[in-house]
Amino acid sequence: MVQTKIFAHRGFSGNYPENTMTAFKEAVKAGADGIELDVQFTQDHVPVIIHDRTVNRMTDGKGFVCDFSLAELQKLRMKEDSSERIPTFEEFLHWVEPHSVYLNVELKTELKDRGEIPELILPLLAKYGVEERAILSSFDHKALHAAKQKKPHIESAALIHQAMMNPSKYLETLGVEGIHFKASTLLMDEVAELQEKGYHLRPYTVNTVDQMNQFFTWGCEGIFTDYPDLALAVRKEF
Ligand code: G3P
Ligand code: CA
Repeated sequence: MVQTKIFAHRGFSGNYPENTMTAFKEAVKAGADGIELDVQFTQDHVPVIIHDRTVNRMTDGKGFVCDFSLAELQKLRMKEDSSERIPTFEEFLHWVEPHSVYLNVELKTELKDRGEIPELILPLLAKYGVEERAILSSFDHKALHAAKQKKPHIESAALIHQAMMNPSKYLETLGVEGIHFKASTLLMDEVAELQEKGYHLRPYTVNTVDQMNQFFTWGCEGIFTDYPDLALAVRKEF
């Protein structure tokens, strides 16, 4: 059976401000196999790492990420720790390049961003030599499909947040290698069927010991967790 990889969701977000350089660095220090991060674009088309459409929840500013220039965005400070700010995707790649961890790059795209993924995200993965260990994921399956057409060798996974009919047929049409599913949306036999067909299954967000054991038992390729330290301890005993 494969050993399930542990991806630190938004970095080590259980203990540090999510999607910050500290959360990413602490995830590597803890021994996570991979890092999950959320990418979107500033008004001047720079890919930055933040989950929400707005800066309101995480920073001392207010407004939509896409309405800030990079310079404006970088003046904002994280509410949880004023020494932290929103990282750029390139800053992250520059740091992560020497660390041997997998990267799950979640594309938080909107319709207008789709053209920017091939132009602004994919070349950066090549520039930093991380294509082989990167996974592109998105709830925007059209954007994912377009990225796949452009860079077929980069692993891609469709994000889903609810149950769906005939997922394997859908994944085949989409041409992706994996499915990242909300932990409660797929049953064991559905997961097994997809795995038998060779798809990579990775549930989110897996934060309890029971859930961790469940997905380790199911032989999922990976899990996304806010607590990579806990998941590593559970996996050790598994
Ligand atoms: O990539 C898995 C998970 O991060 C998707 O949901 O809302 O946490 O970005 P969300
Ligand atoms: Ca995410």
